[in-house]
Amino acid sequence: MANLASTFIGIKSPNPFWLASAPPTDKAYNVERAFEAGWGGVVWKTLGLDGPPVVNVSGPRYGAIWGADRRLLGLNNIELITDRPLQVNLDEIKAVKRKWRDRALVISLMVPCDEESWKGILARIEDTEADGVELNFGCPHGMAERGMGSAVGQVPEYIEMVTRWVKQHSRMPCIVKLTPNISDIRKPAEAAKRGGADAVSLINTINSITSVNLDDFAPEPMIDGKGTHGGYCGPAVKPIALNMVAEIARHPATRGLPISGIGGVSTWRDAAEFMALGAGNVQVCTAVMTYGFKIVSEMISGLSDYMDRKGFASVDDLVGRAVPNVTDWQFLNLNYVTKAQIDQTSCIKCGRCHIACEDTSHQAIAVSPERVFTVKDEDCVACNLCVDVCPVENCITMVPLAKGSVDPRTGRRVGDYGNWTTHPNNPSVAAE
Ligand SMILES: Cc1cc2nc3c(=O)[nH]c(=O)nc-3n(C[C@H](O)[C@H](O)[C@H](O)COP(=O)(O)O)c2cc1C
Ligand code: SF4
Ligand code: SF4
Repeated sequence: MANLASTFIGIKSPNPFWLASAPPTDKAYNVERAFEAGWGGVVWKTLGLDGPPVVNVSGPRYGAIWGADRRLLGLNNIELITDRPLQVNLDEIKAVKRKWRDRALVISLMVPCDEESWKGILARIEDTEADGVELNFGCPHGMAERGMGSAVGQVPEYIEMVTRWVKQHSRMPCIVKLTPNISDIRKPAEAAKRGGADAVSLINTINSITSVNLDDFAPEPMIDGKGTHGGYCGPAVKPIALNMVAEIARHPATRGLPISGIGGVSTWRDAAEFMALGAGNVQVCTAVMTYGFKIVSEMISGLSDYMDRKGFASVDDLVGRAVPNVTDWQFLNLNYVTKAQIDQTSCIKCGRCHIACEDTSHQAIAVSPERVFTVKDEDCVACNLCVDVCPVENCITMVPLAKGSVDPRTGRRVGDYGNWTTHPNNPSVAAE
């Protein structure tokens, strides 16, 4: 069995699966049960200033998007940071860390954007023996209106300033958690690095309204007839998170900055994808809120089997392996040609591929009176839409044409690698 042991910015955990700061990490009871189930680490639910506890709504705080089988695809929440007293959290954190020395325990923090507040909270947590801090510059609702969370995460100068305070006033490793509610994720990551962050984690939730009640005419979840925007997460956000992780991993100014990958991780495969794109470990929230702590055992065995198959000695062999293959559109090989091919033995003759290609693509799938569906190579542009809409996995595959063969659509031979930067149709090439 492969060795899943992970060291992330010096913080050791038996595997790279951590729980993200959220309800699953809100209290000792949860965290201890998570550790018993096998989670490698947790980021404790975000702590705030001492004083009167945070007040949450007492009506529904979640909204959701489901697939046709009612599987949860996306979760929206309007919850704030912890609403438990600071000292209660600190005492529990200390007790849990003492008991579970081999697990990672990082404390998430969010306090007002002034040096004294940060200095004060850092002094309070010093004694807990936690392994590090995560700065919550991400929550897009509730706290943002009070000048915290994503209100800080959207201003790179603030990120840099607060990170610098934290590094000045604490010896703990510092992870900066980024908001995706920004146009270019590389800017806040650069700012975190400039401020001295040891790592970034992403993504926090995406600003969203998941649904509108069409009788009461208000966004859901609805609190006494009114709704507000919340933070979106779960499987639906994974593609957005993967792209942002890859952007940071391959950006010259942030390359090499450790990344904790978050957003829709539900299986070992999701985790492996984040890691291949440069994440040193992953954090999970929605999947555990949906299925419980025990999903980690399948994540552990799945990743371990995969690493054995690949001959990876440690998770470090996986981290960043796909980063060199993430490129810009202009560098894609325009001389690479594929054609859709239908496996008639697995086709159930539903006709979805035909309708999709006929109505919205390139009219490249013929249907016979006996409902045999075949691809017309002379029309197929290889868009992949038929593969995506076909209900039978692997029934349609994209088959590459051999180099030197003629593409019946264009009449041109499949040639060597050639991209847009040298393509004759590129006006900037013609201008030279
Ligand atoms: C109900 C709820 C509460 C959350 N609270 C926090 C929080 O206090 N601090 C924080 O940094 N992130 C918080 N998050 C965001 C998660 O840590 C995580 O970044 C996000 O949910 C994406 O991961 P996922 O797709 O696995 O859920 C919360 C998420 C949910 C669903
Ligand atoms: S790949 Fe695109 S163009 Fe080709 S058959 Fe499928 S849907 Fe049509
Ligand atoms: S969508 Fe798939 S199963 Fe349906 S007709 Fe096309 S190839 Fe066959």
